[in-house]
Amino acid sequence: MNYDAIENEHGLRHDPFKAIVSPRPISWISTLDAEGRANLAPYSFFNAVSDNPHIVMFSSIGWKHSVANVEATSEFVCNLATHALRDQMNESSAPFEAGVSEFEKTGLTLVASSVVKPPRVGEAPIALECRHLQTIRLEDVEGKFADRWMVLGQVVSIYIDNAVIHDGLIDITELCPLARFGYRDYSVVYEVFQMVRPAGGGGEKSGAA
Ligand SMILES: Cc1cc2nc3c(=O)[nH]c(=O)nc-3n(C[C@H](O)[C@H](O)[C@H](O)COP(=O)(O)O)c2cc1C
Repeated sequence: MNYDAIENEHGLRHDPFKAIVSPRPISWISTLDAEGRANLAPYSFFNAVSDNPHIVMFSSIGWKHSVANVEATSEFVCNLATHALRDQMNESSAPFEAGVSEFEKTGLTLVASSVVKPPRVGEAPIALECRHLQTIRLEDVEGKFADRWMVLGQVVSIYIDNAVIHDGLIDITELCPLARFGYRDYSVVYEVFQMVRPAGGGGEKSGAA
């Protein structure tokens, strides 16, 4: 099949776009609002976009609390949503009123971050502490603004639970990060294989892309 993606005439039961761009990592974003109240929400329009400096982005469908809080306070933390934390991650995506702490609603532990003010999720094995770089309002090919907001931040401090480090490397099968597909589908990494990149290829010296 082939369809007009602008009109989005896919003719399928559900829009397949998110199932196609899969799997996506889930960032569980913790922020503080202007009054210092904690907020937590999962975002799968999330990724790393640069390794030096370390830059990550998340994108919000509408002007949600996480974006508003980053705009107000210039900091956020990307906590890793793992398989063990899947229920709390899901619960925290409910549309709570501004000022309601998803930490309280889910029973998760607020732990002070190292250098930024928003707390990290104590139960999450990895947290990226970020400072806001820019928020870009997305626009389409006709230059029409969408109610979609991409937030870019630089990672200024990283927390890793020592338990997931084996022989100096992060063991992804120990970590069990959640991966998001389309529809109601998720996955976890159970199997890992290696490939060595061709000599002379650009990118990272370590061979890890
Ligand atoms: C796995 C998962 C991934 C999500 N990814 C996104 C996303 O990328 N962008 C978005 O706007 N909402 C996403 N949501 C929905 C938000 O988490 C939800 O709207 C939440 O209430 C936003 O909270 P906030 O207003 O406190 O930021 C996702 C929900 C789940 C369960």
